[in-house]
Amino acid sequence: MAAIAQAQPNIALIKYWGKRDTKLNLPATGSLSITLAALWTRTRVEFDESLRHDELRLNGSQDPAARARTSACLDLLRRLAGTTTRARIDSCNNFPTAAGLASSASGFAALVVAADAELGLALDRRTLSALARHGSGSAARSLFGGFVSMAADHRADREDAVAEPLLDAAEWPLAVVVAVTSHTRKSVGSGAGMERSRHTSPFYPAWVSGAAADLTAACAAVQTRDFAALTAVSEHNCLKMHAVMQSSQPPLLYWSGTTLDCLQCLRALREREGVEVFFTSDAGAQVKAVCLPGAVTRVAAALADIPGVEQVLISGLGEGAQLVNDGEAI
Ligand code: DP6
Repeated sequence: MAAIAQAQPNIALIKYWGKRDTKLNLPATGSLSITLAALWTRTRVEFDESLRHDELRLNGSQDPAARARTSACLDLLRRLAGTTTRARIDSCNNFPTAAGLASSASGFAALVVAADAELGLALDRRTLSALARHGSGSAARSLFGGFVSMAADHRADREDAVAEPLLDAAEWPLAVVVAVTSHTRKSVGSGAGMERSRHTSPFYPAWVSGAAADLTAACAAVQTRDFAALTAVSEHNCLKMHAVMQSSQPPLLYWSGTTLDCLQCLRALREREGVEVFFTSDAGAQVKAVCLPGAVTRVAAALADIPGVEQVLISGLGEGAQLVNDGEAI
């Protein structure tokens, strides 16, 4: 018996960068994301009493480095199910892994959905979101589709740091064009990068104290489908996060020259040609252009023309993590 789940990565428009508590993986800032449709992780989970430890295969190869984090997240589900049986986990992505395209978000979301089914727990989405957060903060958001918000927690038991759906994908069908400028793994992962920023960036306190206002403004822009307002707050929030990264010690510079060329190109398209598009970028050199569906062709062509852009991916907004049929390929 095995369960297979599929989850799509999400792209944060208002970013989570910084932890309030590393043990519980609690975010210091709230966030707002859009879940993609075209990119996915599929994960097969099978519990097997003959295993002495969990086995993880990522894109066909054993991945001992990622195993500890995966096992720690599975332990939470095992505890709820009252079992210690180890699992065989087979996971694959149809997009570059650990390169700033949120593979840990879709990875942990798919993991908890498959493990929940395989253990017969039937947990609600809110609980699954909290469990995915323990694996990776951004994964809490991939349990839901469309526009998703996640507040920094307030409750004493701290388990309110979970994502919530804000608007369905069909209610405001934006598109995302991803300019892949590098297929290599990032040198400093998000978790380590955030901790470095928290301890060393002189801008970190201002970043954290401004996050709630950005989240409120972005949620209002989504509710009223105000693309210009969402553009303004999202680009500003992204650039503030990169200012925090770049002012950390040693500095975190995730961008390449090509990344900057893409950002300038998207600004020029908007300011000179009136194309409804804005940029965002995470802990990697890729650029994500968020646009109205009518702008996709123009945006994709402009990004593909930039020297150094290796691939352009186009996606609409998609659904949250779901179980898939046993027959579907991994
Ligand atoms: C820049 O969720 O990968 O993509 O909780 O340590 O696993 P961990 O971090 P992760 O960080 C995501 C950072 C970001 C912004 C975002 O997605 O909100």
